[in-house]
Amino acid sequence: MGRYFLGGAALAAALFSVTVADCPDYSAYSQQIHQPVSSGKYQLSSMRPDPACRTFNSSIVEDTITSMASVIKDPDLYRLFQNSFPNSLDTAVKWKGVSADNPEEELTFLITGDINAMWLRDSANQMQSYLSLVKADSSSDSLASLYRGVINLQARYVIEAPHCNSFQPPVESGLKPVQNQVLPDIFTPPVSNQTVFECKYELDSIAAFLEISTNYFQATGDIEFFRKFQWVDAINTILDATQALLIGTYASNGSVNTVPYTWQRTTTVGTETLDNNGRGNPVQAGTGLVRSAFRPSDDATIYQLFIPANMMFSRYLDSASEIMAAIGGQRNTANQMHNFAQSIRTAISKYGIINDNAYGEMYAYEVDGFGSRSLMDDANIPSLLSAPFFGYLNISDPIYQTTRKFILSEDNPYFMRGPVINAVGGPHAGLGQAWPMASIMRIFTSSDDQEITTALKEIVSTTDGLGLIHESINSFNQAIWTRQWFSWANGLFGQCILDLQQRKPEILQQSFQ
Ligand SMILES: *[C@@H]1O[C@H](CO)[C@@H](O)[C@H](O)[C@H]1NC(C)=O
Ligand SMILES: *[C@@H]1O[C@H](CO)[C@@H](O)[C@H](O)[C@H]1NC(C)=O
Ligand SMILES: *[C@@H]1O[C@H](CO)[C@@H](O)[C@H](O)[C@H]1NC(C)=O
Ligand SMILES: *[C@@H]1O[C@H](CO)[C@@H](O)[C@H](O)[C@H]1NC(C)=O
Repeated sequence: MGRYFLGGAALAAALFSVTVADCPDYSAYSQQIHQPVSSGKYQLSSMRPDPACRTFNSSIVEDTITSMASVIKDPDLYRLFQNSFPNSLDTAVKWKGVSADNPEEELTFLITGDINAMWLRDSANQMQSYLSLVKADSSSDSLASLYRGVINLQARYVIEAPHCNSFQPPVESGLKPVQNQVLPDIFTPPVSNQTVFECKYELDSIAAFLEISTNYFQATGDIEFFRKFQWVDAINTILDATQALLIGTYASNGSVNTVPYTWQRTTTVGTETLDNNGRGNPVQAGTGLVRSAFRPSDDATIYQLFIPANMMFSRYLDSASEIMAAIGGQRNTANQMHNFAQSIRTAISKYGIINDNAYGEMYAYEVDGFGSRSLMDDANIPSLLSAPFFGYLNISDPIYQTTRKFILSEDNPYFMRGPVINAVGGPHAGLGQAWPMASIMRIFTSSDDQEITTALKEIVSTTDGLGLIHESINSFNQAIWTRQWFSWANGLFGQCILDLQQRKPEILQQSFQ
């Protein structure tokens, strides 16, 4: 998402004398090498801000970082973990406070990184990095509090603008809204640019709200929290918005339906705008799949029946229905959520699985319900590769395994290959740019030691000395990368290392030199 940065060779270390008043801008800080570098051959920069400049302190996260020193043997791999795991806490908690309407309602404005705005998807996943360390805790300096603040602010955003992906700081913060485009985007329904940074309708953004809600509930059992604020209203908004987006392009008499969302942007980039006067390519009626105008890369879908987001939405709508049921007095809504999740699952099986001549039965990335489909995968999550990671299916599912084999082969039009890094990419950062996020997802979905080791080695050796997880890296030249400060990918890497500690600790005892 967002801007396109090309990182050259690392800049010379700039030495700051840090006080709270003049903490360096992390966009610049993250492009410079800071001493001491790690002791392995990749000499990775120290990339944590000075303690006085960190945006949230968590002793349990600090203890985890310290304890991993004996778990991770390779000094460069450990440095990458040290820098990346706390990145969202160190740099992205732009504001934390309470609602003007209700001092009990915590709010957390958690930015994506190098853009001063909060994405629903990114913020849900930035918090997920710390999920294994979260427990019930009512204090305001806890990870649980940070979670509650993100959920409350997301609920506010969803209620005001359910079709939007990225949002401005809450008024309570006193932070100024930021302008996105020079020319305004043209879209329906209209929303205020004081609340919304960008209004690309992505089904996975809505699913992200259900994801973070599920994660917090399962970690804490704190049902009281879901009763108190705007959570039920946000769910009702989501149900209305997504049911309206089951609509096909044509009515049965042939007339063209009015669609609940359209989008056009003045741009030279095809994936930034929608065909057919902002409606997108035609979609068959009655499939039971929810449309998505954009992908989690913030690029337009080719066919709006986007399978990974339908999988993710179905999976978390079902788990969120359990929260709704536990609230009390919401049986009908809980049943509606569960039944809707099941009907999407049925539709995915009917329309989302195709029979490929070479591979056999596998999932398509996007379909239109008329018979057209796109066979590919993109690095951003939800992807097809990540379907077991977000819990839609089992890793052993034979159709998933066939799909995975395809995704990680040269038959996937967006699998980037080369001497530096081999991973899924996507149109967002362009051809030849492989995404470490997809290498991380490859590790999460593998139990093959060799495959995991190769992917880890590629990740640790391709940060251009900066010791952070970049958005994309040229598969032939690690000095050509995008996004120096992409908090989600950094947190995801930390989460992956903690997962390996549980599943395959011996891999973390290897050398990656
Ligand atoms: C984090 O702790 C440091 C001291 O180690 C302090 O200077 C800083 O203000 C704290 N940050 C926050 C957001 O509380
Ligand atoms: C909001 O829209 C108005 C009118 O188009 C424009 O003048 C203003 O700069 C916009 N503000 C932001 C933060 O984008
Ligand atoms: C065609 O069907 C749509 C949807 O049911 C309806 O709104 C519209 O009035 C119908 N048009 C004609 C010409 O019958
Ligand atoms: C995974 O498999 C188990 C055992 O067969 C089953 O109970 C569970 O529902 C499956 N999970 C998903 C997400 O399909």
